Amino acid sequence: MSRKIHIFDTTLRDGEQVPGAKLNKKQKLEIAQQLAKLNVDIIEAGFPCSSPGDFDAVKAVAQQVKGPVIAALARAVKEDIDIAAEAVREAERPRVHVFLGSSDIHIQKKLRRDRESALDMAVEAVKYSRNLCDEVEFSTEDGSRTDFEYLCRIIEATIQAGARIINVPDTVGYALPEEFGDLIHRLREKVPSLDRSVLSVHCHNDLGLAVSNSIAAIRNGADQVECTVNGIGERAGNASLEEIVMVLKTRFENYHATTGINVGEIYRTSRMVSRLMNIPVQPNKAIVGSNAFSHSSGIHQDGILKDRTTYEIMKPEDLGIKQESIVLTARSGRAALRHCLGEIGFSLDPEVFERVYNRFIDVADRKKDIAAEDLKSIVEIEVSKVPETYRMHNLQIMSGTKMVPIASVTLERDGQLHTDSATGDGPVDAAFNVIERITGVSGKLRDYDLKAVTMGRDALGEAMVRVQIGNTLYSGIGSSPDVIEASARAYLNAYNRYFANGGVENVQISDSPVSTDRKL
Ligand code: KIV
Ligand code: ZN
Repeated sequence: MSRKIHIFDTTLRDGEQVPGAKLNKKQKLEIAQQLAKLNVDIIEAGFPCSSPGDFDAVKAVAQQVKGPVIAALARAVKEDIDIAAEAVREAERPRVHVFLGSSDIHIQKKLRRDRESALDMAVEAVKYSRNLCDEVEFSTEDGSRTDFEYLCRIIEATIQAGARIINVPDTVGYALPEEFGDLIHRLREKVPSLDRSVLSVHCHNDLGLAVSNSIAAIRNGADQVECTVNGIGERAGNASLEEIVMVLKTRFENYHATTGINVGEIYRTSRMVSRLMNIPVQPNKAIVGSNAFSHSSGIHQDGILKDRTTYEIMKPEDLGIKQESIVLTARSGRAALRHCLGEIGFSLDPEVFERVYNRFIDVADRKKDIAAEDLKSIVEIEVSKVPETYRMHNLQIMSGTKMVPIASVTLERDGQLHTDSATGDGPVDAAFNVIERITGVSGKLRDYDLKAVTMGRDALGEAMVRVQIGNTLYSGIGSSPDVIEASARAYLNAYNRYFANGGVENVQISDSPVSTDRKL
């Protein structure tokens, strides 16, 4: 006997709230299609009233992505609900997700109301939503810090008003597993109407307990968990989808709960989200980090060679992590490239294939062998590219231990070449300075990450940046066998996003401690 746990994926909503991770419509659709392949039960596609762009993207997901329920978030006000309901109207199975703060802190300090009027507001919002959409979820924002009796009242009242799904969030990541599990247990006992509803939880990771709290909630009767791929989300993030799924699968005998997740798609989904949202996955991240299945100590390697179960509790290949045997070289033609792309699951339309081919030849000219991971990096960067206002034509660097680094860059715009040079604190800084000079736009580097895509001295370097231009953060990604070129390509990619969006993205900039004083 096992219970089915519904996986509510909010990568495209809570995950997209990460500064600089904003997706355009095409990217959102691509991730949503992949989430459908992963077989999540619900995709929260966005917060449509937040911008016309997000409304369009949620609408496109609702129209085109088949299988999962498509949900849209709304505050408990008519205008938001109208927009959310309209955005998901054409989905096979639409859901409007309404939320309202329920803790005294939220009611008094944020909503400036009292408990009774907040309760009325929640009930009105749910009733109003039910007129527009059959399936309504209500979230008691800051539920874990809400007075228990009041939490029971608001849940009972919103179920009576028509909410089919009740979500209890640990909005600020304050709960402890035993306490949160107990809360869910007591809610089940005290609110019998919950037996007719789906009881959901939504945990944030401020104390690193989001997954533990979600699992404790499942043990105590939660039917749905809200989570994100790679655990991305507000502040320290949300509960990680892949960790929850693999806990339930690997320790089935402890929870007797299953999900419908197609675990073979986990790794591919993780990579796609990381690349399209430009959020690197930490190497030691459980399940999907690059070190999650690598064994470095001699004793461990010896054990693994004798029997993998000595040091592995999951099989990487079950998660879609394969060491493909593909090796391409500069002499491989289009047919070989197409074949290898097929083997790693890519079928590209002719225009993207041509771009990938050109980039592949460029890289293969400088790197002896191209492995599957290199190819994935090249494809995913080309696929996610915005229209290139400026294209990298040439980059030359002079640098040494006893000289000021100088970069000389040629960019192409509308068929015309623009060349300039600049110095910098380091060679990467010099290259960034030239890009700023040529484009005439100055940016502030807020985040920079560089990693090798494969092992070996000739590994492809992959750079991710976040650049603040004006009041907006733009992210960029680039790869090359030359790490300075990879960094410059990433910087240019961020600038091309700026040009493509005309600076309209309205991402709030916090005074982030990651602010990077460039000495690269
Ligand atoms: O963290 C939270 O409380 C939320 C709600 C909108 C569900 O994201
Ligand atoms: Zn949240």
